[in-house]
Amino acid sequence: MPALAPSSRFESERLAGEGFVLRTWRRSDLESLLHHADDAQVVRGLSSRFPHPYTRRDGERFLAGEVVDLDDPVFAIEIDGQACGGIAARPGDDGRGQSAELGYWLGRSLWGRGLMTRVVALYAPWVMQRLALFRLQATVLDFNAASARVLLKNGFIEEGVARCALVKEGEPHDLRVFARTRRSLCDAP
Ligand SMILES: CC(C)(COP(=O)(O)OP(=O)(O)OC[C@H]1O[C@@H](n2cnc3c(N)ncnc32)[C@H](O)[C@@H]1OP(=O)(O)O)[C@@H](O)C(=O)NCCC(=O)NCCS
Repeated sequence: MPALAPSSRFESERLAGEGFVLRTWRRSDLESLLHHADDAQVVRGLSSRFPHPYTRRDGERFLAGEVVDLDDPVFAIEIDGQACGGIAARPGDDGRGQSAELGYWLGRSLWGRGLMTRVVALYAPWVMQRLALFRLQATVLDFNAASARVLLKNGFIEEGVARCALVKEGEPHDLRVFARTRRSLCDAP
């Protein structure tokens, strides 16, 4: 693995919340990333870009910027000094980039404490302001009630269902579409 992490225009950002800090990923996060990400229950709710088993090579590739563009606001969720999950927004490739796709995950040992609700509450308005977004969208697998709840508690509106949109273990699943929007960049995100 190369010694230097790819540079990110968000490297100097540090968003401090109640019980966590959001900041860019570091090469030194590898062990903690593997510890939390190599879990079938975590991967269950995510797209196939997040594999299971989650190998050392998968972690190294992610931290090298070979899986997602680390120049996007792709943040580790740091809790007690350890990277225990992640949150990211990927701007659309419509040439305008004023809409982005939100994704997040947290190590299983930390679920059910209100953490992701607080992480999204901090990150969503920040990223909408920082990237001048009109729309922040998240799609949630039909069985992922906890994730839907996190979004609804953070002002995302459920817009509909993309039927049979994602195949998981050979079975097609519906994706529930949620978004938080604003009509003007002067409006609060
Ligand atoms: C989804 C996930 C991020 C939630 O994180 P979390 O920190 O446990 O979430 P919170 O504790 O902030 O809130 C969870 C909410 O869902 C509710 N919930 C949990 N399990 C539920 C279930 N099976 N059915 C309905 N609601 C459920 C909780 O009660 C809570 O709502 P409340 O505060 O109104 O009681 C976490 O489970 C995770 O990382 N899962 C794997 C990856 C994933 O699915 N990512 C999202 C992809 S869209």
